[in-house]
Amino acid sequence: MDKSELQAIAGKERGARKPVCVSCCTAAGCLSAGGGDVMDSLREELSASGASQKVEVRAVGCMKLCSRGPLVRVEDTSDGRPVADGARLYEKIKPSQAPVLIRAAGEGEAAELPMVDLSHPFFTRQRPIVLENCGVVEPERIESYIEADGYLALHKVLRDMTPEEVVKTITQSGLRGRGGAGFPTGIKWSLVAKAISEKKYIVCNADEGDPGAFMDRSVLESDPHRVLEGMAIAAYAVGASEGYIYIRGEYPLAINRLQTAIRTARRLGLLGSRIFEAPFDFNVDLRIGAGAFVCGEETALMASIEGRRGNPSPRPPYPAEHGLWGHSTLINNVETFANIAPILRRGAEWFASVGTEKSKGTKVFALAGKIANTGLIEVPMGITLREIVEEIGGGDPDGQVKAVQTGGPSGGCIPARHLDTPVDYESLAELGSIMGSGGMIVMDDSNNMVDVARFFMQFCMDESCGKCLPCRAGTVQMHGLLEKIRDRRATADDLALLEELCDVVKYTSLCGLGQTAPNPVLSTLRFFRHEYEELLQKEVTLA
Ligand SMILES: Cc1cc2nc3c(=O)[nH]c(=O)nc-3n(C[C@H](O)[C@H](O)[C@H](O)COP(=O)(O)O)c2cc1C
Ligand code: SF4
Repeated sequence: MDKSELQAIAGKERGARKPVCVSCCTAAGCLSAGGGDVMDSLREELSASGASQKVEVRAVGCMKLCSRGPLVRVEDTSDGRPVADGARLYEKIKPSQAPVLIRAAGEGEAAELPMVDLSHPFFTRQRPIVLENCGVVEPERIESYIEADGYLALHKVLRDMTPEEVVKTITQSGLRGRGGAGFPTGIKWSLVAKAISEKKYIVCNADEGDPGAFMDRSVLESDPHRVLEGMAIAAYAVGASEGYIYIRGEYPLAINRLQTAIRTARRLGLLGSRIFEAPFDFNVDLRIGAGAFVCGEETALMASIEGRRGNPSPRPPYPAEHGLWGHSTLINNVETFANIAPILRRGAEWFASVGTEKSKGTKVFALAGKIANTGLIEVPMGITLREIVEEIGGGDPDGQVKAVQTGGPSGGCIPARHLDTPVDYESLAELGSIMGSGGMIVMDDSNNMVDVARFFMQFCMDESCGKCLPCRAGTVQMHGLLEKIRDRRATADDLALLEELCDVVKYTSLCGLGQTAPNPVLSTLRFFRHEYEELLQKEVTLA
């Protein structure tokens, strides 16, 4: 395989395009709403209608507005590329509506079906980089990814760049890890590149255990090759030849599409030995997790890959130094890897021009809760919470937004009066929350903050691996106190004890699960203390 072969595949794809393209979302959100039957009906109707000279039906990935699925987009592709301006997006499509859609597409007319307004800020305020191919390419066809400039970045680095130049580009881009903590990706890569190790590994963390989060799943279901390409570039940069994707078993569709992607990439020589005829070999394998939240923590994840129980270990040593089977290992999140190919194709400066001074690029969020438009969004860093909630999300249809929860069980609740806060790592941390991996839940007056804190504490209690005492016993005690407060059985002393325990668990737990478990309590106490105090039993004074 060389560049001309990549270009030939892309050209053949473009040449085979029919003038009108009907794209049906086949990511998990739409499939769960009946998208699979819609897809089958569209294909059956296309062959029955005789419109197949003019119209094609494509199985694409997530189109982002998950709450309105199944989604079907119809667009003019007569010049070989989709024309976004003229596209029509139909919502809540039923299989019985396939004939109307195909007939209208064949006749170049708009079908009389419920349509989504593509000029709505939900679409226009987004800035797709990670998700640029989602809903556009066909995730089960490598040719479709190649047509969207897929594997060109890998070709560029293998033919024109030294590993040091690749690391430098990633460092200059300012990319920070999207798995939660925001560690600078370039620094992590240079640590692994410089490590002296007989063997090196690349690991993609696709565990995604935060309740309500589905960003990584959507990327893998919609654009799996983007992640494989990012991993291969990372492998070249740090000197690794083997990689693992650690993915939870609850994501069967993503697993299936990754397996197809790995198989087809191998067949075309884009994984395997001497990729693009360069002295570079890289193979990727999947490791399926059983859905324990703690297995997303990097040391527990590596233990699980090695076949041991998924328990965290103290750091240092960090994986860069002592990772899988004792070898230097680079671990990055799915979204981090999905940013790599566009950075290499368009340059570090281009990427660094998006976002804020310290938080570059975009962030993908799973927007949910009391909000009109729920789904997957990708926004430039620095956008305010208000813009996300009120413009993109369309606000709370039933009343006033009370708070926005970011960072899941490790994050916090930001009150409505801080909605003008820019979304970047530092600003969210100043408010006692975190960027996290991308869960964002909008809450209104019907959400009691003590119960929100109790919910997340229960999650941490259930998911604690039990290896260290502060987290094992502390989460149980804190959960008990939160229940007591919620049930109006607690006194001021109980609240003081809860606060004390938060500190103990935060500062003495072994891994990030325990260290961040108190965050939802601390942030709700900081901004909604009155809701705790209103539930406390009043002191009984004897006459
Ligand atoms: C309890 C716990 C769960 C985690 N779960 C995930 C996860 O599901 N996905 C992820 O990428 N990182 C997760 N992390 C963070 C990883 O340990 C690690 O920092 C991350 O994968 C590094 O990738 P990045 O630098 O690209 O962000 C978790 C951390 C903790 C403490
Ligand atoms: S902090 Fe919790 S999850 Fe982490 S090692 Fe200790 S008990 Fe296990």
